[in-house]
Amino acid sequence: MKRIFAYLSLAAAIVMTAACRSNTPAEKPFDGPAYLNPAAPLEERVEDALARMTLEEKVALTHAQSKFSSAGVPRLGIPELWHTDGPHGIRPEVLWDEWDQAGWTNDSCTAFPALVNLAATWDRDLARLYGKSIGEEARYRKKDILLGPGINMGRTPLNGRTFEYMGEDPYLAGQLVVPYIQGVQGEGVAACVKHFAVNNQETRRTATNSIVDDRTLYEIYLPAFEAAVKEGGAWAVMGSYNLWNGQFNCHNKRLLCDILKGEWGFDGVVVSDWGGCRDDDEAVHNGLDIEMGTWTDGLHSDASDGYQNYHLARPFIERLRDGRATEDELNDKARRVLRTIFRTGMSPETHYGSFTSPEHFAAARKIAAEGIVLLKNDGILPLQPAEGAKILVVGENAYKMMVVGGGSSNLKTKYEVIPLDAIREAFDGKAEVKWERGYVGDTTTDYNKVVTGQDLSESRSAARLVADAVAAAREAEYVIFIGGLNKSDHQDNEGTDRLDIVLPYGQDKLIEALAEVSENLIVVNISGSPVAMPWSEQADAIVQAWYGGSESGHALVDVLTGAVNPSGKLPFTMPLALADGPLKTERQYPGIREEGKEWWQEYYDEGVFIGYRWYDTQKLAVQYPFGHGLSYTTFEISDASVKAAGEGFEVTATLTNSGKVAGAEVVQLYVSDTEATVERPEKELKGFEKVFLEPGESATVRFPLDRRALSFFDAEAHDWKAEPGEFHALIGLSSRDIRADLSFNL
Ligand code: BGC
Repeated sequence: MKRIFAYLSLAAAIVMTAACRSNTPAEKPFDGPAYLNPAAPLEERVEDALARMTLEEKVALTHAQSKFSSAGVPRLGIPELWHTDGPHGIRPEVLWDEWDQAGWTNDSCTAFPALVNLAATWDRDLARLYGKSIGEEARYRKKDILLGPGINMGRTPLNGRTFEYMGEDPYLAGQLVVPYIQGVQGEGVAACVKHFAVNNQETRRTATNSIVDDRTLYEIYLPAFEAAVKEGGAWAVMGSYNLWNGQFNCHNKRLLCDILKGEWGFDGVVVSDWGGCRDDDEAVHNGLDIEMGTWTDGLHSDASDGYQNYHLARPFIERLRDGRATEDELNDKARRVLRTIFRTGMSPETHYGSFTSPEHFAAARKIAAEGIVLLKNDGILPLQPAEGAKILVVGENAYKMMVVGGGSSNLKTKYEVIPLDAIREAFDGKAEVKWERGYVGDTTTDYNKVVTGQDLSESRSAARLVADAVAAAREAEYVIFIGGLNKSDHQDNEGTDRLDIVLPYGQDKLIEALAEVSENLIVVNISGSPVAMPWSEQADAIVQAWYGGSESGHALVDVLTGAVNPSGKLPFTMPLALADGPLKTERQYPGIREEGKEWWQEYYDEGVFIGYRWYDTQKLAVQYPFGHGLSYTTFEISDASVKAAGEGFEVTATLTNSGKVAGAEVVQLYVSDTEATVERPEKELKGFEKVFLEPGESATVRFPLDRRALSFFDAEAHDWKAEPGEFHALIGLSSRDIRADLSFNL
């Protein structure tokens, strides 16, 4: 009996081993077509699939079939591409051919912080974590192309979409976009970097011709995209709505064919912004691969059988038939789409993703907290109230949910922690927390049928609201004002620009009134773009927080209480007033009409001088400079040096945490070219490192400086040029807090 059992076990083991073996792909030759073989090289799969396709099937790949999908090849089992907004979380499902929500009940996502919040972390690891987490959410929801990240430059603080972008510096945005993309694409989801290019305002975004010279283009508006493509390996790029130098960007020959696909060797897909494709002929010839939109043959007109009327649908087939388009042109587009499908939905590695996991909410909280910027602190923060102290919270943004709204980045999230609830939770049983609204801002509580469930109606008059807040402030030991902007029209919102940088709804007056009666006033500004702070002298602490997503309340309270030592840095300049900025004329912004010109003309006369490049070169006072952000500890920089290394230089410095608590600081390296044949900014960011240190601990930071970092773009030679002579390496903690100035010669 024993022996029989032994034989049976042996036989079973042999069978199992054989079964395991036969499951090993290496041992079982793939006997299907090459395009289905996950082990076949990418290009072999692409060519094999292409060879099997009809002309009509290839054309079908190049335009939308629904609001957020483009066709695959059903006959061959090649799946469709599903696109989704956006940069901050996975958009709720919409109907096949409508903007309206489909009403699914399983599509409430993790809302990650707005990209400007990520930019304010100055932390490459967090950008990777963000990308990986959102990539996992996209994959779980079976999306192939994530419509983000957005990396347009902060040319004007009025741009309604500043909150969706990564600040005013091309190097900062470029450094953060690369790990973000790698994180997303590691999950088998294509990052679609947007909006390419020089799309820096919402006012008349589909009718404005941005007139930008090559030097400005290459130095300011392209480098983050270049990094996204060359270093990040982005699989998709979205063309923008506007024109650049006279041609719409979704089919701008120089931008797409010459620069993106030519100079940078981009092998992925160019996707149009929704309805951004405007011309049959240019759509075919000038580098567009997938035309997206809805009910549109252009931007506006409804048409029956809409998708067949797309520039890249029936008109494309007609052109192919009568010789105005070539099969080579079609094949190039089809190859790029197939490549994208094989990289994502048919990727050789299997990805399943994950959705609303505790890890994703934890990532959202960490990123949100680490991007919060402590602008000012007279010592009142971190908040440590005595037992039973009275804390008054004032302001609509303490209460209003902010994940909803703002345009295409609108999300339906599983939950959103508002600041007021997080403050109550943190001080439960320790202090008395009350809330006064103080002003009425935006009372809408739904957007595209995503409903927050809050009631924001208010019966009190504006004067009564102020009086009630001031009366309550008199009784409180601490007043925390939480206001700022929101995502309604003319604020942080797609489709409209802001009208000024002054805080809306009378908030300046309210803050001043609170400052009169409170000894301990903390002002928290929640916004996605710069605001003026005329009351900054009167506030005891000022905190810049952002649209932090699902965990925004917790993240804010983490910083206010000191559970997280603030380490965020401004990714843009906080000016004193709009008028101080570089855009002085209507022709610069928002553009002018000119005789005989079809589109609004907008001249980038300021050239490379935007953001701190403008303010620092002009030596203008600002409210808070680019790169500024305080901590609950202090940091010193010592032993700064520069030496020649390889083709360039290496700058080193020691950072020491000289305070009493652990914390992080961002060491920033700016380069200044003292003498050049062209006018150069007073300084430009060329390196940064975020370092976490225990009290008393030191670390050495190293910044390589290659020739490109010393160069300007010589438009005539169409090349980067580093001119011999003296340079300065400026090491500091903001663009205006330079701790070491080292000169060196090239
Ligand atoms: C926006 C894009 C967005 C697309 C799809 C457009 O209006 O500009 O950023 O990805 O819509 O929602």
